Amino acid sequence: MQTGMQHAHLDSWWLLIVLFLITYFLLKAGKAKGAKILHMIVRLFYIVMLFSGVYLLSMWGFPLTHVIKGILAIVLIYAMEMILVRTKKGTLGSKAPMYWGILIVSLVLVLLLAFRIISF
Ligand code: HEM
Repeated sequence: MQTGMQHAHLDSWWLLIVLFLITYFLLKAGKAKGAKILHMIVRLFYIVMLFSGVYLLSMWGFPLTHVIKGILAIVLIYAMEMILVRTKKGTLGSKAPMYWGILIVSLVLVLLLAFRIISF
């Protein structure tokens, strides 16, 4: 049986990605007001993912694969936040490929580790 914390984590990770993308495209379209509210919700989801993730880690006794996944997830959250803040300020510029690169690589690795496609 899944606990509430497990549900929070397993059911909302894709929602975070979707909300991040909508916020990004709203910012690009100059819809600052809508983007501001969504960005706040995105930040709330960072916290939900972090707290529920740490809870799951402690539940499973900190297995190495998932500890690494957790660290990569923090890198992913960092990339999402930098992309949103810099897009808002108009300072993403030449850094865009780097941040998008970090985001895509960390997201792929997080998912491969999360679904145990990579395990060690
Ligand atoms: C944006 C960040 C994150 C994303 C996208 C993400 C994604 C996922 C996914 C897709 C799963 C597996 C889902 C499934 O089996 O159906 C998962 C499981 C897990 N995640 Fe995360 N996660 C994130 C953040 C974190 C953080 C920060 C930690 C730890 C500090 C963490 C720890 C875990 C653990 C321990 C599991 C295993 C749960 C289980 O098998 O019951 N995650 N995560």
